[in-house]
Amino acid sequence: MIANTTERKLTVPGPSVSPLFGHITQVLNFVGDSIRLSSRLFQEYGSVVALAEGGGTNVYSPYPNCPGTVLAYGADIVRDVTSQHDIYHKCPLTGHIYRKRNDSPRTQPFRHFLVGLFGVNGGEHRQHRQLLMPAFHKSRIESYHSEMVAITQSELDKLQLGEVVDILELMRRLTMRIATKTLFGIDFSEDGGSFAKLLKEVFGKFGDPAILALPFDIPGLPYHRLLNSMVKLDTTMRDVIQQKRENGIDTGDVLSMLIQARDAETGMTLTDDELLGHLGVIYFAGHDTSANALTWTLFLLSQHPQIAADLLDELDSVLHGEAPSIEQLQQLPLLERIIKESMRVISPVPWNGRVISQETTLGSYELPVGTEVFVSIYQTNRVPEIYSEPERFIPQRWQQIQPSIYEYNPFSAGSRVCIGAGFAMMEIKIILSMLLMRYRLQFIPQSVDPKGLIVLSPQNGISMRVCKQDREFNKGVGSVSGSVREIVKLS
Ligand code: HEM
Repeated sequence: MIANTTERKLTVPGPSVSPLFGHITQVLNFVGDSIRLSSRLFQEYGSVVALAEGGGTNVYSPYPNCPGTVLAYGADIVRDVTSQHDIYHKCPLTGHIYRKRNDSPRTQPFRHFLVGLFGVNGGEHRQHRQLLMPAFHKSRIESYHSEMVAITQSELDKLQLGEVVDILELMRRLTMRIATKTLFGIDFSEDGGSFAKLLKEVFGKFGDPAILALPFDIPGLPYHRLLNSMVKLDTTMRDVIQQKRENGIDTGDVLSMLIQARDAETGMTLTDDELLGHLGVIYFAGHDTSANALTWTLFLLSQHPQIAADLLDELDSVLHGEAPSIEQLQQLPLLERIIKESMRVISPVPWNGRVISQETTLGSYELPVGTEVFVSIYQTNRVPEIYSEPERFIPQRWQQIQPSIYEYNPFSAGSRVCIGAGFAMMEIKIILSMLLMRYRLQFIPQSVDPKGLIVLSPQNGISMRVCKQDREFNKGVGSVSGSVREIVKLS
């Protein structure tokens, strides 16, 4: 718990806003299009800027008396923030809602949903992370390879030549199936989709502005529906945990491994609430991030025909139309560069949010206790001194540059670096290679608008026509409109 004892004002420069509705409007603008607003503010004020001059805004911190919001980017900032975990605390994603409404048994799941690693700091974070690590060890991740291949195959088999699909929807379905199978041991394609529906109802709704604005448990309101679904998911997951506890064996999924995890020194094991918290965070952090990384990569490939052709040459020559083995995944250098470059140009996770637990200096500014800081991964990965023509998608640049972890960090850095990075890279490589050897996805003329504070998504998805892989990569090139053109230069 961070108490704001100093009552000091935020002195970081920023735009002046009207005291009446200005702060709320500024917060809504930031939540609505954080990339556009922050790019403008960084340009005007430099690499450390307040969302509003004098503070008074609160986007993420669940604690009372947040002095204000600071946005920052650059390698030095990333190093300072990600290496001083005792100062820069992370907060559970549900904390904001729970603080407003912790008045009924129906809101109790907020105390553990999406808490997990996001809701612990300092020694507690180290202890929990150590318990989770074996589930993300290289050999354990590799054991998920055959499930990833099988699920990808089964989803690709369902596609019809000539049909138009929303790529984001397709990637979400795929990564969700992979996540539920590897995390909980449940393949939702086998239960008529009810588990998937429940997950969507809960995890898809947390950032909904209507829920944040009207957190009242009154029938008809979206918050009431969220609570209904949350209670149902809570009960379902507790049953799954109970069954696995009774079985007492490691059935190959993350959950059964976590049930058996025990701290070597203290003998501590995870309670049901802690298990639910960890699973929720791993599921949330691991499924939509990968789905969007895949979607943006497919979008960028659809607009860069030569790169798509070179990639297919590489895939064909190494894989000969077959799904990649674990060894072959290491023999696809262009695929690796394409994924890295895609996550640089359009970072799936654009921000690291933190709340400071003690007074500190960021850049040349003093920050009072309780200040919330958003570090821009997106902007850090576009510094022109390191990345020439930063707004262009140039996978070949990775043959010449070797930025440090603070200069390129789509998975963040420090002891809170993404625990699932290895999982994500394997999953993304498997899906892209299997999909592209079989199909060419042709962009349909439309507006593409990246939105989102936690995960950057195309607001209305991206429609593409499923064609057989005929190497006609020029088809569908050049018909993109929308705000994506402000962040990526497409010729
Ligand atoms: C392309 C896909 C992914 C991207 C871009 C990504 C990015 C990130 C980033 C930037 C963070 C740090 C957030 C912060 O500290 O504020 C993070 C943390 C985390 N990620 Fe990922 N992630 C991806 C996939 C995954 C997958 C597949 C999993 C699990 C299966 C996962 C699980 C986690 C967890 C549990 C954390 C919290 C770590 C901690 O606080 O110690 N992520 N991820």
